[in-house]
Amino acid sequence: MKLQKLQFCISIILITSSSFCFSSHRNDLLDTDNLYRAHDPMARPSSVRTASRDRISYNDSDFWRQLIRKQSGAASSSTSLKMVNVNDYGAKGDGGDDTEAFTKAWEAACSAQRAVLVVPQNKTYGLTPITFSGPCGSDLTVEISGTIEASSDQSAYEKDPTLWLKFENLTKLSVAGGGYINGNGENMPCKHAPTALTFQECKYLRVADLTITNAQQMHLVFKKCVNVSAVNLQITAPKESPNTDGIHVTDTQNITIDRCAIGTGDDCISIVSGSSNVQATDIACGPGHGISIGSLGAHMSADYVSNVVINNSRLSGTTNGVRIKTWQGGSGYASNIRFENLAMDNVTNPIIIDQNYCDQEKPCPPQAAAVQVRNVTYTNIRGTSASEEAIKFDCSRNHPCEDIFLQDINLRSESSVKSTEASCLYVRPTQTGIVSPRCD
Ligand SMILES: *[C@@H]1O[C@H](CO)[C@@H](O)[C@H](O)[C@H]1NC(C)=O
Ligand SMILES: *[C@@H]1O[C@H](CO)[C@@H](O)[C@H](O)[C@H]1NC(C)=O
Ligand SMILES: *[C@@H]1O[C@H](CO)[C@@H](O)[C@H](O)[C@H]1NC(C)=O
Ligand SMILES: *[C@@H]1O[C@H](CO)[C@@H](O)[C@H](O)[C@H]1NC(C)=O
Ligand SMILES: *[C@@H]1O[C@H](CO)[C@@H](O)[C@H](O)[C@H]1NC(C)=O
Ligand SMILES: *[C@@H]1O[C@H](CO)[C@@H](O)[C@H](O)[C@H]1NC(C)=O
Ligand SMILES: *[C@@H]1O[C@H](CO)[C@@H](O)[C@H](O)[C@H]1NC(C)=O
Ligand SMILES: *[C@@H]1O[C@H](CO)[C@@H](O)[C@H](O)[C@H]1NC(C)=O
Repeated sequence: MKLQKLQFCISIILITSSSFCFSSHRNDLLDTDNLYRAHDPMARPSSVRTASRDRISYNDSDFWRQLIRKQSGAASSSTSLKMVNVNDYGAKGDGGDDTEAFTKAWEAACSAQRAVLVVPQNKTYGLTPITFSGPCGSDLTVEISGTIEASSDQSAYEKDPTLWLKFENLTKLSVAGGGYINGNGENMPCKHAPTALTFQECKYLRVADLTITNAQQMHLVFKKCVNVSAVNLQITAPKESPNTDGIHVTDTQNITIDRCAIGTGDDCISIVSGSSNVQATDIACGPGHGISIGSLGAHMSADYVSNVVINNSRLSGTTNGVRIKTWQGGSGYASNIRFENLAMDNVTNPIIIDQNYCDQEKPCPPQAAAVQVRNVTYTNIRGTSASEEAIKFDCSRNHPCEDIFLQDINLRSESSVKSTEASCLYVRPTQTGIVSPRCD
């Protein structure tokens, strides 16, 4: 069954009281200018929204063909696109180990001027840890239509226990195809376990139309990447899974995450140091820990995150809604952040800034230094809280939160008999419109 074709649907009931259909079909990405413009969340938010509403049919190889044609003019469109099918390099797709075939196929695809590496439908390819390194020819598409499954041979991960599938040092890579990536986490110990899919030092990267399940730890990591779009991804793991963040963004600039359904038991999206211009829209999050900026400032580190937008999303049954978490003793900042048009459905801490984050067994001793939290706007956030404290600002005594704005907030208790309250320490938010509960 091909999920891509099913048009995964999600209702975003609150804001627009309409429902959007997720599908792999969209036309905004056919336009190069639009693709890269979408990476500047502050500059053109409305064009991004408008574009993503009307969709036409395309598939990824078509997408790149058009993109290349557009870039290099009609002359080079006659340059042939090399199709590299892993089966032609010895992959069997019967669940056994196909790592060697993938390595050879990658070499062939990477050395071509323009290539599509094809992982066919209806087959399951077993892989031990593998790194797909660039630089490659000008454009490369990896079309995963079948299933890629992590080897359950534990000794295979001994060399580098942090990685399973890694793409690095690539420019204009597209990974898509409607297929499945299965981290096989339910059959594996989760300690010192690898991230399922890592992109490192990639520029103009597009990851779309994939289902990523049961990572042994994190599902999808973007590290030191620039100009990224992650679109229409389904990321799931059992809700009791530990440290299995859905999408982890680290040291990455200009990334849009759009139309993703994420429920992995841990953070749906986590955005950590060195990241800026991060825009996440149309996210369905839960179960898990919600959407986090941080943690920042652990081990007295200097961490910086800025220009983040989380828009038009829904969080269901998560322990946090939108959270900024920093450790005492750190430095740097989390600034220019907008949380907008969010539905909370039985979320334990829908709005939370925690500058006393302490995720360790030993208690964290008080420290004067802190990561500065500044210029954070919460607009149109509605729904229900599983706890009474629907808004919790636990800011630093020495470095209070600055320029916090609350506008049109209505968070009721999930239980009809209780009311909600706001706990607001070392913060004086500007509150406009209806804000319920309110900081005093
Ligand atoms: C990212 O895209 C922007 C806009 O197209 C461009 O100005 C910038 O140079 C790109 N960054 C890199 C590292 O390629
Ligand atoms: C991010 O995009 C903006 C404009 O779209 C561009 O000016 C900037 O250089 C990009 N950042 C990087 C690190 O390439
Ligand atoms: C959020 O999305 C709405 C459209 O649904 C758009 O009007 C608004 O500008 C977006 N906000 C940001 C900060 O991008
Ligand atoms: C998608 O592209 C592939 C490779 O060129 C082509 O064989 C296939 O027919 C296309 N599918 C659709 C639905 O256009
Ligand atoms: C995969 O299986 C589906 C359903 O059985 C079938 O319709 C489709 O043609 C198959 N695709 C390939 C490439 O074998
Ligand atoms: C990355 O690619 C560049 C060329 O684009 C090359 O010069 C460099 O050595 C590569 N780095 C690594 C770590 O492979
Ligand atoms: C606050 O952040 C917004 C983006 O969320 C930005 O447009 C604005 O310039 C920032 N304000 C200041 C004073 O930096
Ligand atoms: C709401 O969340 C709480 C705490 O996670 C849970 O115990 C309760 O069953 C949930 N209620 C509903 C109606 O889902």
